[in-house]
Amino acid sequence: ILKKYFWEIFPPTEDFDWRANLSHLIETGSPTHNGNIRYRPPLVKEEVIINIRSHPLKNRENNIIGTVSLVEYVTKKAKLEEGLRRAYRELRATQEQLVQSGKMATAGRLAGGVAHELNNPLGGILGFTQAALLDTKEDDQIYKDLKAIEEAALHCKEIVSGLLNFSRQTKGEFKEVDVNKAIEATLALVNHQTKLQNIEIVKDLSSRLSKVTGNFNQLQQVFLNMVTNARDAMPEGGKLFITTRNIARGKKVEATFLDTGSGIPEEHMDKLFEPFFTTKDPGKGVGLGLSVSYGIIKDHGGEIEVKNRKGAGVEFRIILPARRITAR
Ligand SMILES: Nc1ncnc2c1ncn2[C@@H]1O[C@H](COP(=O)(O)OP(=O)(O)OP(=O)(O)O)[C@@H](O)[C@H]1O
Ligand SMILES: [Mg+2]
Repeated sequence: ILKKYFWEIFPPTEDFDWRANLSHLIETGSPTHNGNIRYRPPLVKEEVIINIRSHPLKNRENNIIGTVSLVEYVTKKAKLEEGLRRAYRELRATQEQLVQSGKMATAGRLAGGVAHELNNPLGGILGFTQAALLDTKEDDQIYKDLKAIEEAALHCKEIVSGLLNFSRQTKGEFKEVDVNKAIEATLALVNHQTKLQNIEIVKDLSSRLSKVTGNFNQLQQVFLNMVTNARDAMPEGGKLFITTRNIARGKKVEATFLDTGSGIPEEHMDKLFEPFFTTKDPGKGVGLGLSVSYGIIKDHGGEIEVKNRKGAGVEFRIILPARRITAR
């Protein structure tokens, strides 16, 4: 199209100012190439994507007398590329998830095996200690020592049963569970402790929450760990927001636990659910809470996610499939 200014054919848009672009070319004499510009031509509804290459047009005296511009419509190609990139990103995310859950499965089997092996000798230690206690007078020094051994062995038993739970070698019974009730029951257990530590619990539990299929005690164990972790993250006190609601058009139930605590350093994020990962002092935490919780939630066909909330603390999100109501 000769004898027309470029911008008469392609008026400038917000995204791209042809006039400035071409004046630059005329001033400097160097070719320009602008790739993948989104352009919505006036009067046309659809956005197009174009590539523009412009070259100076010179006369014999080497003066620039115009420009030659090649406008290439690459809308289809660019959209395909975009789709491909998106698909690739999704694939990467799925792959990472798979690697992570593979790691968890291995850790789970390993932990389960070790726990199983430890269970018998531990039973022996506990049994003999308790027998010896029966034969010892309470004011004997050895009685205190035996008591200490018994206590330590009981503590080990707790860890072992946590591990067995995590690796799902003990299988609980699944029934209809009201998640709100499991949360309330958990809070009743810790009410006293949280009050002592100046932690205010702010509940927003949906009154129309769908039921889930699951094991009440196991779910309670998960919620208890959410609350104790939040408590440990707020030694100076704070707030714990607990919400439940239906999501995915009632097909899923979501429970969130948001605290105003210390948050989690980025480098810990991918280790949280591994057995024995803890930042707490020995005696305060073993690092089994979240790995057990992970095992339980997976067993329920659900998801557990964690993220740091800027300015707040940490938010744990637990998603469980709602109980399917079978047709009459
Ligand atoms: N709400 C939270 N705020 C900050 N850090 C957290 C929170 N929840 C978990 N963490 C971090 O994750 C780690 C692992 O938690 P997990 O519940 O698995 O083990 P633990 O609480 O250390 O020990 P256990 O639960 O076995 O007594 C914690 O040590 C802590 O560093
Ligand atoms: Mg814990």
